[in-house]
Amino acid sequence: MMVVPLGNINPVKPVNGKDGNVATRTSISTQIAIIGGGPAGLLLSHLLRRSGIENVVLELRDREYTIERVRAGVLEQDAVNLLTDAGLGDRLHHEGQRHDGIYLQYNGSRHHVSFRELVGRSVWVYGQQEVVRDLIDAHDEAGTPARYSVSDIELDNVADGPATVRFTQDGEEFELTADFVAGADGAHGVCRPSIPAAEKTTYQREYPFGWLGILAHVQPSTDELIYALHERGFAMHSMRSDTVSRLYLQVDPHDDITNWSDDRIWDELDLRLGTMGWTLERGEIFDKSITPMRSFVSDPMRFGNLFLVGDSAHIVPPTGAKGLNLAIADASYLHDGMVAWYRNGDASGLDEYSPRSVKRVWQIQHFSAWMTRMLHRFEDSTDAENPENPDYDYQVQLGQLSQLCESPRGMSHLAEIYTGLPFLSHPH
Ligand code: PHB
Repeated sequence: MMVVPLGNINPVKPVNGKDGNVATRTSISTQIAIIGGGPAGLLLSHLLRRSGIENVVLELRDREYTIERVRAGVLEQDAVNLLTDAGLGDRLHHEGQRHDGIYLQYNGSRHHVSFRELVGRSVWVYGQQEVVRDLIDAHDEAGTPARYSVSDIELDNVADGPATVRFTQDGEEFELTADFVAGADGAHGVCRPSIPAAEKTTYQREYPFGWLGILAHVQPSTDELIYALHERGFAMHSMRSDTVSRLYLQVDPHDDITNWSDDRIWDELDLRLGTMGWTLERGEIFDKSITPMRSFVSDPMRFGNLFLVGDSAHIVPPTGAKGLNLAIADASYLHDGMVAWYRNGDASGLDEYSPRSVKRVWQIQHFSAWMTRMLHRFEDSTDAENPENPDYDYQVQLGQLSQLCESPRGMSHLAEIYTGLPFLSHPH
């Protein structure tokens, strides 16, 4: 395998620029070109660097945007173990909160699901933003920051490589040659579309609702996350720290956030999360947005020398808190495959990457869809001939939830998957 030092920059022969003028493209070589500087791309880059595998991360957005982007907040046990082993655990263990369970709420009553008691495992509440920040700090420290604000990314030769990635940065055109490309550029990136339609199958489901999410400066009103099914729709209480709460409401995905004043949001949260003798504390809302919900899978996650990682290959609705964790598992699998290849010329890990990841993805698709169906109001299924009769499907959901909360086996199933299917090969 050809190994070319990172940053080996040779101005190459002139090529024709877009406007027909002769332009100079700067050529760079690396082992792995990583497209996308979100958690999947940055983590893969970090793991590869620590294993001595050179890589370059390209990100369309600027650095501040990637740090500020508000996303998920729950890390599975194995994800925490992996980040810790990779030297990324300092702030996570200081500022992250270990949670040993969640609450499920329906019919106005709250039921505790104790992960510790049921399966002896936990999750960590630590914002995706914080994971990204830790990764960016680690890259800065190692002197290997991502290249931000790049544009016009084009992939070539990924089928049988070495692949080339053309891009523009600060008005300069580059041609990056790499043994492999990791497509970690999210659901709307360029990597997945570079796989010919005949070489992939996509599966998807759109949900008839979205989540309105807020961040507020207020101490959480709960010790563990609350997932609530209410007649008016799903609501959830999460958190980021002792002084910042994160809360969600099921809303129409086409609703406009400007229709939701802060008071209206708090009133609706009060209604849906309310239980006897419990008060939801209010505080200043400093971030609010509406996100539509969908499930999506593109299979396989490999085409030639291109490997899809994270959201570029799969999307889950956020109800199971799995999107970030799936991306971390993908990065871990791909890293292991790359290490076996570069150290021993063993391609089996790379060959197994897609089947292994896709299998996990479908298991988690099931979990996320199950949690979503159980906890949200779907279209009203009220009997048209007897509109005074209450909604049938909602009653079925209440039956499902009561059965689950009364069954230690049912709750163990939830706890096992919520805390995470194992993905690390070594024991912890
Ligand atoms: C969050 O804190 O943002 C969060 C937590 C649990 C979920 C989804 C989102 O299931």
